Amino acid sequence: MNEKILITGGCGFIGSNFIRSLLNHRQNISIINLDVLTYAGNIDNLRDVRKDKRYRFVRGDITNGLVVGRLLKKGVDAIVNFAAESHVDRSLYNPAVFLKTNILGTQCLLESAIKYKIPRFIQISTDEVYGSLGPKEPAFTENHPLQPSSPYSASKAAADLLVKAYETTFGYKAIIVRSSNNYGPYQFPEKVIPLFITNAFENKSLPLYGDGKNVRDWLYVEDNCAAIDLVLRKGQPGEIYNIGGQCEKMNLEITGTILNKLGKPESLIQYVKDRPGHDRRYALNISKIKRELGWQPKYKFEEGLRKTIQWYLENRDWWQRIKTGEYLKFCRRHYGK
Ligand code: NAD
Ligand code: TYD
Repeated sequence: MNEKILITGGCGFIGSNFIRSLLNHRQNISIINLDVLTYAGNIDNLRDVRKDKRYRFVRGDITNGLVVGRLLKKGVDAIVNFAAESHVDRSLYNPAVFLKTNILGTQCLLESAIKYKIPRFIQISTDEVYGSLGPKEPAFTENHPLQPSSPYSASKAAADLLVKAYETTFGYKAIIVRSSNNYGPYQFPEKVIPLFITNAFENKSLPLYGDGKNVRDWLYVEDNCAAIDLVLRKGQPGEIYNIGGQCEKMNLEITGTILNKLGKPESLIQYVKDRPGHDRRYALNISKIKRELGWQPKYKFEEGLRKTIQWYLENRDWWQRIKTGEYLKFCRRHYGK
């Protein structure tokens, strides 16, 4: 049977990898990609699949009920909501757009999903909703309280709470997935790994926040896409699944590894003023998805990083266009970097 899926935010980093992966792995599928194309959305991220008959792009905003309703009323089997403002630093300076897209956008999708009786809804959330861990605390489980620190993570937590409220109030059982920090091809070079790889290529400094000892749990994007596809097919309605890389690393270590792999000197590291409210450590307990759906990450960090570096090396045009444009102006305005 042909499955029809509405994917939002499919021109961003994870969404574009997910669409490519679905088209590669599933025959009987048709995908509508609804994306408004913010600074982070790039239609070229899916240039290779644009002629595939199973794929259709619609430019539009998830906060616009008319647009969403028009797409859903013809009937879809599932919604996967990636669309979001996703960068913590930006949320510190322009929170309003985060609240609009991440909260009101999710609410608009939920309303329409109920109205048009869409059987499945996957809300793409983040480990950042849990807040920060101390060095010895156990990794976050799905039952950990939500204690977000930034406007970004607060907006994602609010969306998660809306999902649960719509379940309690209207009986609509969406699924939430919370993944840890992703890395891989097509990641916008404002996030630390692509920023540092591309800066190092160009012999520019690598601005490390604070003491560089903050810890993130790194997940290669292909592993995340495989997990989300599994949840889409087999996840239990109303459940929450953590998707983590089981790969905790300090920023300083990541930075050293990138420089080492590129044969660049450590003198490129520049310690800069810390991000306000900077979460110290994230780590996800993934026992639930392992036990219930049989997923675990396949990529070791070494391998994922090697593939990522290779991609940025082979796609200079893609990131150079971005870095000489809007993003650079933003960074200069706010960080002087
Ligand atoms: P991204 O910033 O690369 O892409 C976001 C996409 O959403 C862009 O294509 C953008 O144009 C689109 N978009 C933004 N506002 C929209 C709107 N109002 N209507 C329609 N489209 C809109 O983000 P990403 O890194 O691919 O993250 C995707 C999702 O995964 C987000 O929900 C994010 O919170 C979550 N997440 C990301 C990570 C990570 O490490 N990148 C980790 C955990 C969770
Ligand atoms: P980032 O990629 O922005 O993801 P998140 O804040 O959502 O985890 O940052 C990852 C880590 O890298 C985080 O601890 C902040 C740090 N960082 C830097 O040290 N320098 C930078 O220029 C950036 C963008 C991030």
